[in-house]
Amino acid sequence: MRPSAFPAHSVESVLTSRVGIHSGEVNIKGDSIRREQAMKIVAILYPGGPAAAETPELLGCAENALGLREWVESQGHELVSISDTGAGLEAHLPTTDILIATPFWPAYITRERIEMAPNLRLLLTAGVGSDHFDLAAAAERNITVAEITGSNVVSVAEHVVMQILTLVRNYIPSYIEVTEGGWDIGKVAARSHDLEDKSIGIVGMGRIGQRVAARLKPFDVRTSYFDYRRLTTTEEQTLGARYSALVPMVRESDVVSINFPLTPATQGFFDRELLYSMKKGAYLVNTARGRIVQTDALVEVLESGHLAGYAGDVWYPQPAPADHPWRKMPNHAMTPHVSGTTLEAQKRYSDGIRACLESFFAEEPIDRDYIIVEGGRVTSPSYAYAYEG
Ligand code: NAI
Repeated sequence: MRPSAFPAHSVESVLTSRVGIHSGEVNIKGDSIRREQAMKIVAILYPGGPAAAETPELLGCAENALGLREWVESQGHELVSISDTGAGLEAHLPTTDILIATPFWPAYITRERIEMAPNLRLLLTAGVGSDHFDLAAAAERNITVAEITGSNVVSVAEHVVMQILTLVRNYIPSYIEVTEGGWDIGKVAARSHDLEDKSIGIVGMGRIGQRVAARLKPFDVRTSYFDYRRLTTTEEQTLGARYSALVPMVRESDVVSINFPLTPATQGFFDRELLYSMKKGAYLVNTARGRIVQTDALVEVLESGHLAGYAGDVWYPQPAPADHPWRKMPNHAMTPHVSGTTLEAQKRYSDGIRACLESFFAEEPIDRDYIIVEGGRVTSPSYAYAYEG
C-alpha cells in the first residue's frame, strides 16, 4: 500500500482549505494544487445485519464500509456508507465527489442520476463488473470508472464449478430428500450423471472463464470456448480448451457457462432462440449478469424440459423481488449474488478500492488494469467494442 500523499492536518491542506482552492486549480504562486480539498465519498453497500459486528472480516457491507472509514477520515475526506439505493442515495448525489457501488447490492447509476451529481468525478466498483453504471453517460461527463479487476475471479470460478456439479449430480433434490425425511434413491438417481466426458462450453474466456476451464480440466471433460478474442495456442493447450463459433458450441455442449460482461451487446444475448438451440437436456450456469439471459424465455425453456437445469447467482433486478420468476422455476440451483464476495474476495476488493482512492487523492494514475472509462472513452477491452462507433 502506498503511503498517503496528504497526511491529516498537513500545512498544505490547512492552507488550501482556508483559501478555498478547488482540486486541480493553481495557487497564487502558480504551483499546481493536489486534491487536498475535502471530498465526499458515498459507498452504497449491502446491509450486513448482525453479521457485520460478529464478523469484522465482512468488509463489503455498509456497516464495515470496506474497512476504509478511519483511513478516509484521516485523509480529511468524508465517507458516507449506506444501503439505500433509492431516495437515500439520491439525497447525497448533489454533493458526492466519488461514488462506490457494488454488484452484490447494486445502486443503478443511470444517466439521470449522473446528471444529479455535478461534482462526481470517480465511480468505483467494489468487485468486478461495472454494468450498474451508465458507462456512456460517465464517459460523456469525463467521469473515470474503475473496478477491482481480478479481485474475485477465483471466488466466482469455484462457485461455477460447485454449481455445475450441483446440477449434473442432482444435488439439491438429493439434499431435500435428507432434510424432509425421505430415501427415494430412484427419484434422485434418475437425474444424476457423472461430469466426466461431458462437453463444456464457456462463453467469454477472460479471467473467470479461464479459471473455470482450468478447474474443470481434471474432471476429464471436453472444453470449448467462444470469445471475440482468441487465446494463444499455448494457452488453449494449457487449459485444454478448443476455440469454437458460438452456435455450434452451444448446440453440442452438455454444460454452458456464461462469463462475459453485461454490455449493450450482451443484454438479452441468451434469448429464446439461443436457449432452444442448446442441446436437449443441457445445463446453463450464469454467474456473469442476470440480464444476459432473457427472464421469461429461461422460465419457458426450463418448464418445457428442454434444459435440464440452470444455476448462477446473478439476477435482475437485485435484490431479486420475492416473486421473481426465477425463484420458483423448475430444476434450478441458484444462489443470491454471493459468488464473488467470499471473505477473501472482500479483503481483495477493499484493498483495491483503497489503492484507487490513494491514487486519486494523490492525482496519480489509477492502476491501468482497473480502468473501464477514462478521458471521455470506454477503454476496457472487455467493454469498449460495445460502445465504439
Ligand atoms: P474479463 O474482462 O477478464 O473477461 C471477459 C471476457 O469476455 C473477455 O475475454 C472478453 O473478450 C469477453 N467478451 C466480452 N464481450 C464479449 C462478447 N460480446 N462476445 C464474446 N466474448 C466477449 O472479465 P472477468 O473477470 O472474467 O469477469 C467476467 C464477468 O463476470 C464480469 O464482467 C462480471 O459481469 C461477472 N462477474 C460476476 C461476479 C459474481 O460475483 N457473480 C464476480 C466477478 C465478475
